[in-house]
Amino acid sequence: MTLPEHIRISESPGADLKDFLNKNSYSAVALLTDNHTALHCYPVIRHALPQHIHVTIPAGEVHKTLDTCAEVWKYLTEARLDRRSVLIVLGGGMPGDLGGFCAATFKRGIDFILVPTTLLAMADASIGGKLGIDFMSYKNQIGLFCQPALTLLSAAFLSTLPEAELRSGYAEILKHALISEPAWWDELTARPWKQHNWQIQIEKSALLKWRVVSEDPHEVGIRKILNAGHTLGHAIESWFLACNRPVLHGEAVAAGLAAESIIARDEGLLSSHLSRQIIRYITDVFGKLHWNSHDTASIVQLCFQDKKNTGKKIRAALLKEIGQTMWDYEVSPERITAALEEYRQL
Ligand SMILES: NC(=O)c1ccc[n+]([C@@H]2O[C@H](COP(=O)([O-])OP(=O)(O)OC[C@H]3O[C@@H](n4cnc5c(N)ncnc54)[C@H](O)[C@@H]3O)[C@@H](O)[C@H]2O)c1
Repeated sequence: MTLPEHIRISESPGADLKDFLNKNSYSAVALLTDNHTALHCYPVIRHALPQHIHVTIPAGEVHKTLDTCAEVWKYLTEARLDRRSVLIVLGGGMPGDLGGFCAATFKRGIDFILVPTTLLAMADASIGGKLGIDFMSYKNQIGLFCQPALTLLSAAFLSTLPEAELRSGYAEILKHALISEPAWWDELTARPWKQHNWQIQIEKSALLKWRVVSEDPHEVGIRKILNAGHTLGHAIESWFLACNRPVLHGEAVAAGLAAESIIARDEGLLSSHLSRQIIRYITDVFGKLHWNSHDTASIVQLCFQDKKNTGKKIRAALLKEIGQTMWDYEVSPERITAALEEYRQL
């Protein structure tokens, strides 16, 4: 399987954007950035863009809100964009989710182009058509599925990305390797993580994600394997956020992958050897997240709020082997408590 026509690997994103815009007679071009990508990434493509309007939103997850959408819609309205306009979103997963959502709902939907600028967005968030915003402090509470007209994947933007953000995106690549094939996992673990060829890893990740989401676009079955590490990862992320000690999404996912590998081992799915290998590699690269024993129960409670649960049961995607994942696997709170405690005491 190859990437579909609308997802392209790009060595010169400016030229490729120009080419796409020339071939599509849009009535107007709008560009959305956050304040960091306006500074670091806009100069990479600016020369290649035709006349356009530029709207900048504040960076950071706290701005992935309806208020920010209102600002964007206001700007597009005042600039008199019609239904044949296009919105280019230049940024990480936050502007990508929000900008795509704004475009997909503006005048019942205009075309949008995603140009992801973080490793996380290139390897994961920009593929699959999930768009949305946070609402009443629930992540991605409002949104829809809609595919962009074009996604341009270029590692060229990574040179300005802070290392912690790069490593956060790496967690999703690790997850993709774990759920797809041992050879990829071996390749990743065989060399220092910072020395990977990101363009190659992005392409592999995008292909894996596309393969899975095109088989199950609305996440009723196999797409749930992409949630590996995320049931505990989201709970850990939410707990740290609630304590005013926010951690990056990928740091929480990495801890989630390690702790879920303990659950998979305890359920008799994953061998002790593989579980140990996963934990060792993840803690080498990401270090460990720290909380006190009496806080473990709060993290377990947060697992009940996961969108993937049905009824009052906690469900996770657990590895059986590298490349084999069981989704919708029911996990008891006791198993989660034991796994979080074992991780905590590593
Ligand atoms: N739609 C999906 O399928 C999907 C999947 C995973 C995550 N997400 C969403 O993605 C978001 C997280 O994405 P993210 O980690 O990319 O966060 P982000 O977009 O907030 O970017 C992280 C930080 O890096 C900065 N930045 C971005 N590119 C830069 C560059 N090239 N140089 C310097 N700084 C740069 C940003 O301004 C921001 O401060 C979350 O909102 C999450 O819900 C969506």
